[in-house]
Amino acid sequence: MKIAHLQFAPVLGNPQASMEKIDSLISQCANADVVILPELANSGYNFQSKEQAWETSEETGKGPFSEFLLSKCQQYGFHLVAGINERDGDKLFNSSVLVGKDGVIGKYRKMHLFWNEPDFFQPGDLGLPVFDLGFCKLGMLICFDWIFPEVWRIMAMKGADLICHPSNLVLPGFCQKAIPVQALMNRIYIVTANRVGIEGDLNFTGLSTIADPKGEVLHQASQSGEEVGIATMDVALARDKMMTPRNHLFDDRKPGEYALLCEKK
Ligand code: ACM
Repeated sequence: MKIAHLQFAPVLGNPQASMEKIDSLISQCANADVVILPELANSGYNFQSKEQAWETSEETGKGPFSEFLLSKCQQYGFHLVAGINERDGDKLFNSSVLVGKDGVIGKYRKMHLFWNEPDFFQPGDLGLPVFDLGFCKLGMLICFDWIFPEVWRIMAMKGADLICHPSNLVLPGFCQKAIPVQALMNRIYIVTANRVGIEGDLNFTGLSTIADPKGEVLHQASQSGEEVGIATMDVALARDKMMTPRNHLFDDRKPGEYALLCEKK
């Protein structure tokens, strides 16, 4: 199977313009099975006001961005994972949706909010779901979630072969270094679909990355270009958790020694 990221600069406050940019690149992903877009791909990131965040949000499966994602899945036959500024009642979530040709399959809401995100978004309340597409099992994390090794491990233990990671990274290259390491440590595939461009005082770092269970970087995008990257994924490799004939990545764990991980410092 083939996995792809689409790196671009969403247009802050203008979902229609963001969709036009995605539309101009996405045909290059036509032969992929799963395509990942950046965090908040409809709205942009660095909101100037709560009103701007609200006006550029939509309910998953209902608004123009959701219709656009569905239409692209129907046109190309792939699955899309996209960061979305999600409205639910009077709340906003920084979310990621998994969409197929019949509509929304699943959703994740960002747990670990970065910097001033709590001014706009509620922390995620859907846990760490893993979705079975038949040809692979897929989980989603969003941007700053990357610094918490616990969430990668939990998703891998739930059977994720692939973790899709829509991002708007701003710290200089830190996450891009961690992605192949997390892929290696959990023997999974990871696609970090980062964005590029500048919004106010934030400079987004590009370098979208696809890493494999051996910790190899299969593809890395440029630092500032709007472009796609595609790589081949071998599901069997992600399902083989034997580090040696006598060492299994999960069976060899010592959970009795890890209780501290479940305590709040
Ligand atoms: C981030 O979590 N968007 C840095």
